[in-house]
Amino acid sequence: MPLRIVVLASGSGSNMVSLTKKCQAGLVDGSVVMVVTDKPGAPCIAKAQDLGVPVTLELPVEPGETRADYDARLRDAVASESPDVVVLAGFMRILTPTFVDDPGLAGHIVNIHPALLPSFKGAHGVRDSLAAGVKLAGCTTHLVTAELDGGPILLQAAVPVMPDDDQETLAARVLAAEHWLLPRTVHLQADPHAPSWQGRDDIPDGVLWSPGF
Ligand code: GRF
Repeated sequence: MPLRIVVLASGSGSNMVSLTKKCQAGLVDGSVVMVVTDKPGAPCIAKAQDLGVPVTLELPVEPGETRADYDARLRDAVASESPDVVVLAGFMRILTPTFVDDPGLAGHIVNIHPALLPSFKGAHGVRDSLAAGVKLAGCTTHLVTAELDGGPILLQAAVPVMPDDDQETLAARVLAAEHWLLPRTVHLQADPHAPSWQGRDDIPDGVLWSPGF
């Protein structure tokens, strides 16, 4: 059975688009059944609708609402679609145990982070990688726990940092790697023994990855 995937996103949604297209192309054994945003009007929603995602939902925080109360509403909305996997694709809220420790969701929530964890946790992974002077940057997929960007690492891809990089150029190179790494990660959730995509997918030039992926 293809995985039922719910995506949470707050912004442009390019990772959601990449994942949805790879599902639709049969490269990921899954289907994006719902996209939820906390930011009304975020481009990810229109893009999801254009791609034919069956359910889209804008779920802003209500005035005075606690984190736990918001996460309870989010959990109920997500659970209504009975997902096998919940993907945080640029979802810019820290989720509390109300969501991440829910018995139906724990262990099935995947985040994409724009740095090579466990370095550079937090909201500025690319900026902080650049500021530290690393020569390899990259992205990480991991299971989500209550510890910010601290759950078990699933996959990583590295990209070179060029001498003249600024935050924008490095972020674009990392994002291209994310667009490959996230769908690959989700596919491996469906089939942990899936053959490597090497040779039959568009891994961006210059991206370093473990060939076993
Ligand atoms: C990505 O770099 C992701 O790693 C980070 O936010 C960005 C979201 O980009 N958390 P998009 O919305 O998928 O285009």
